[in-house]
Amino acid sequence: MDIRLEKIGYTYGKGTPFEHTALHDVSLHIPYGRYIAIIGHTGSGKSTLIQLLNGLLQPTEGKMQVGNFVLPVKKQKGLEKLRQQVGLSFQYPEYQLFEESVSKDVAFGLKNMGVPQEMIASRVREALELVGLDIEEYGEKSPFALSGGQMRRVALAGVLVMKPKILILDEPTAGLDPAGHRMILDVIDRVHQEEKRTTILVTHSMEDAARYADYLYVMNEGTIWMEGTPGEVFRDPQRIRQAGLDLPEVTDFILKFNERIGRRRENMEPLPLDIFETGKLIDELARRVRKGVGKA
Ligand SMILES: Nc1ncnc2c1ncn2[C@@H]1O[C@H](COP(=O)(O)OP(=O)(O)OP(=O)(O)O)[C@@H](O)[C@H]1O
Ligand SMILES: [Mg+2]
Repeated sequence: MDIRLEKIGYTYGKGTPFEHTALHDVSLHIPYGRYIAIIGHTGSGKSTLIQLLNGLLQPTEGKMQVGNFVLPVKKQKGLEKLRQQVGLSFQYPEYQLFEESVSKDVAFGLKNMGVPQEMIASRVREALELVGLDIEEYGEKSPFALSGGQMRRVALAGVLVMKPKILILDEPTAGLDPAGHRMILDVIDRVHQEEKRTTILVTHSMEDAARYADYLYVMNEGTIWMEGTPGEVFRDPQRIRQAGLDLPEVTDFILKFNERIGRRRENMEPLPLDIFETGKLIDELARRVRKGVGKA
């Protein structure tokens, strides 16, 4: 289920005084099974782009294809099927929750698809467990009586429970504490590794993009500004900064370190730019120290 966009544009309120072009000339091809991250400063078009992918918004320019679905379509009818296969967890989870209890909320999509009741119950339990919520404790609670972080977990469970072929997450960890943040991203990563479906993560964290995704799109003012593997994208700090973004901390360290050893002309190999985790950086530095100071 590949995703292809060809010169896609999207204008909000077309033909009204509030007309605003949020995307223009966006072309991309995402082969099935990738873990993609979309990064970009606020207002760069990330949420607009992903809402096109499940047919919630329809392109106002260009053509796109998600699996066998070609968009734009004239009738909304076929779009339900698309939405069953492309699960979208919204940036603001409160927009997504509406049932009277957590269990009912998570079950909603499955029920709509006509999944048998017994199967629904076990899948809801499993999905809530995945996001770290105990069904006994939370199942009967109103989703609106939960904290922001808990709401986010429920909304995410409601998407995971559908086992979509393409899982799209718009800042899934906003409002979570560091432990919750890590836990949710690790769950998403585990599901991705196990199921090998497509995962698309929208994030403001350069660290998360670099750590989890195998391919990045950098958005800037409604276009794709850069794309490539994390190692390719983050080796161009100037272009990243022009898009109003920072480098991952580890990359910033490596670039400064390499510049410093370069200037002193010491017999030292530069550190590779495809390390994004502090632990791995420490391993690499320790390895060099053990081998003899500085030699790679
Ligand atoms: N419903 C709307 N009506 C009109 N303009 C909109 C609407 N939603 C978004 N926009 C505008 O479209 C542009 C892109 O918005 P979008 O929400 O896609 O950005 P984003 O990259 O997701 O930002 P953020 O990081 O803040 O979530 C912005 O300029 C925004 O003001
Ligand atoms: Mg957004």
